[in-house]
Amino acid sequence: MTVALPDLAATAALGAAIAGQLDRGDAVLLKGDLGSGKTTLARAILSALGVDETVPSPTFTLVQTYETPRFPVSHYDLYRLKRPSELDELGLDEALDDGAALIEWPERAEDRLPPNALTVHLLTDRERRATLAGPARWRSLETTHV
Ligand SMILES: Nc1ncnc2c1ncn2[C@@H]1O[C@H](COP(=O)(O)OP(=O)(O)O)[C@@H](O)[C@H]1O
Ligand SMILES: [Mg+2]
Repeated sequence: MTVALPDLAATAALGAAIAGQLDRGDAVLLKGDLGSGKTTLARAILSALGVDETVPSPTFTLVQTYETPRFPVSHYDLYRLKRPSELDELGLDEALDDGAALIEWPERAEDRLPPNALTVHLLTDRERRATLAGPARWRSLETTHV
């Protein structure tokens, strides 16, 4: 499934659609080059979940956890991960027991990520867009919100 993201409003709508389906235990893998809009989409998802504080890019902390009315959501940026096993120290398993995780640069720890994740690939080569892939229950995104 491909979603056009011509402007920030389109990213906000996609973020709201993902937030509406997000459950405890879910991981959303945000792939794409630097500047493709991964952090912007993570912010849109968090905002739709009711997070009204500033959401910095977790470039140096690698993970930042937010309380939401439904469950905590951990926002990861694995760009600076030194080795995949470092992800264990960052508490991904616990984060997914407690709530959901949004993960930028999942390629850094591919073999340690849940197989049932929603993968969102952000592309900017022609017009900005996202391709979505994941378990069947995410397919209703198209008809419900986007
Ligand atoms: N759908 C969009 N339309 C226009 N600009 C966007 C869109 N999504 C993101 N941007 C802009 O692209 C820039 C990089 O976004 P960012 O989310 O930081 O990328 P990444 O986390 O992938 O490096 C920001 O200035 C952001 O405002
Ligand atoms: Mg980013």
